[in-house]
Amino acid sequence: MTVRHFTDLSSMTSQQLRAIMDDAHARKTRLKAGERSKPLEGKALAMIFDKPSTRTRVSFDVGMRQLGGETIMLTGTEMQLGRSETIADTAKVLSRYVDAIMIRTTDHARLIELTENASVPVINGLTDETHPCQIMADLMTFEEHRGSVKDKLFAWMGDGNNVLHSLMEASAQFDFRLNIAVPEGSEPVARFTDWSNNNGGRITFTRTAEEAVDGADCVVTDTWVSMGFEDKARGHNVFLPYQVNEKLMARARPEALFMHCLPAHRGEEVTDEVIDGPHSVVFDEAENRLHAQKAVLAWCLSAEKPALRNEAT
Ligand code: CP
Ligand code: NVA
Repeated sequence: MTVRHFTDLSSMTSQQLRAIMDDAHARKTRLKAGERSKPLEGKALAMIFDKPSTRTRVSFDVGMRQLGGETIMLTGTEMQLGRSETIADTAKVLSRYVDAIMIRTTDHARLIELTENASVPVINGLTDETHPCQIMADLMTFEEHRGSVKDKLFAWMGDGNNVLHSLMEASAQFDFRLNIAVPEGSEPVARFTDWSNNNGGRITFTRTAEEAVDGADCVVTDTWVSMGFEDKARGHNVFLPYQVNEKLMARARPEALFMHCLPAHRGEEVTDEVIDGPHSVVFDEAENRLHAQKAVLAWCLSAEKPALRNEAT
């Protein structure tokens, strides 16, 4: 049986993603109704963090516990990984102890190497290139507030970063339109544009933030300086025309939502008036990390653990 990794939205079928999304909605409803089932009793999730986190860390920890499982929190620097033990060896060792691994790391290749060497599911908790769990939570949030995302118009402004890359993949998988406005030099990595274009995505790069937001159903932004990219950060002034403020937000549809994965840099990519205003659903997005990731965990762990590679069968 193949191991069910959750590495990227592009590595899943749209049917699998839809099933996980439906399960996330159902789990949230059941939790609010007081149901406490423990389908992952006896299972352990190892969580490796090579970068800081508040939401990912707490939502995976609480989510796994709500499902009856246990978690082990690891930081790359405190592991032998930080003393040059290879990712491959780490993957093989952890696979002997735990039932799944969640990793937040730098280079996307580290995530892929982990999946290639682990015999248990690996979940992407953010890399320099993508953040699929965030986008599952964001689309869940849109569906809760406005129904299906199909044919809706999302507008992204600011930096062409990991969250945008996953949103681009989602635009093809969930069939919504996506306008992107970023300053020159901050464009998303070409392979994400190519993948989306080749898989039915409807992405338009606009010259200005105003053009991107005109008539949008959802306006999305994120920090102008992602974790690990502090050295590359140019003057914030190049991003200023992409700040989501009330004037910009007013160009979107009256019922448009405002999304931000958090943490936010208030006064930079978004003003207080917008993030605390009537369009904003940022704390629903944060909550839905919990529900969406529980559905991801349940999907990954519903496959039986395959025999270890060098284990006699
Ligand atoms: N949005 C998000 O991933 O938040 P954390 O960095 O706090 O996990
Ligand atoms: N793009 C941001 C997302 C943080 C959750 C970063 O990588 O720092």
